[in-house]
Amino acid sequence: MTARIIDGKQIAADIRDELKAEVAALKEKGIVPGLGVVLVGEDPASQSYVSAKEKACESIGIYSDDNRLPVETTQEELLALVGRMNNDPRINGILVQLPLPRHIDESAVLMAIDPDKDVDGFHPVNVGKMVVGEDAFLPCTPHGVVQMLRRSGVETCGAHVVVVGRSNIVGKPVANMLLQKKEGANATVTLCHTRTRDLGQFTRQADIIIAASGFPNTVTADMVKEGAVVIDVGVNRIEDPTRERGYRLVGDVDFDAVKEKASMITPVPGGVGPMTITMLLFNTVVSAKRANGID
Ligand code: GUN
Repeated sequence: MTARIIDGKQIAADIRDELKAEVAALKEKGIVPGLGVVLVGEDPASQSYVSAKEKACESIGIYSDDNRLPVETTQEELLALVGRMNNDPRINGILVQLPLPRHIDESAVLMAIDPDKDVDGFHPVNVGKMVVGEDAFLPCTPHGVVQMLRRSGVETCGAHVVVVGRSNIVGKPVANMLLQKKEGANATVTLCHTRTRDLGQFTRQADIIIAASGFPNTVTADMVKEGAVVIDVGVNRIEDPTRERGYRLVGDVDFDAVKEKASMITPVPGGVGPMTITMLLFNTVVSAKRANGID
């Protein structure tokens, strides 16, 4: 079997078109959704994520308030900025780009964000609501994964999903979302991680594999059941002297070999990546609607 490629760029573009129409309708009511973005320091990967977020906001008509702060910014200064944005009615969502410099307590900053503006879905209030199945801001990458499955017609009800990776940003939330007693979920979920003994024993039982380990080739063809759906959340740089920039991006899955066994697979780049920012825009629009009593 050669897998159908799940085109994350196309699915993201479809959702962005829907959001653009919603933003235009909100503007007619005098409402402009706003996102506050904070980047501390000059990490090149973070700079490019943040620029992409700002561009995406602009492309669908969301107001974006960019705050690029020097690496020596103190925790107090950052907390004061978050406090100002919590109280600014133009801002519906706050995004503090992670990782933060080491002298800043990441958890203290995330806790300071008003849960009603926590469009990253990282505040414990939103994490708790997600776990008990209440309405919450869902973290963007796992929410994007769930949307991709849904929009590609993948049945999750009763399916065995094996998640590889237990991060707070991807593994734990995606496992939680898919086990909910809800449409588009209802899966049997196994969560594997770096201490799992014989990972292949679990992944070979999976109808759906979600790879979020952070290491290339974590999932190889011998670990995949014929016809499984494979979602690759990984973004790893590997050296490639044939490329001008000296590296290329690969996921956590051995794509070339696994695509011959899977029924559907996401590529890297062009798979999960474009969905993350799209779901951030989605959360910002939802937040703007809630703040104005719509929905
Ligand atoms: N760093 C890497 N991914 C993310 C994300 O989804 N949100 C934030 N705030 N920082 C990140």
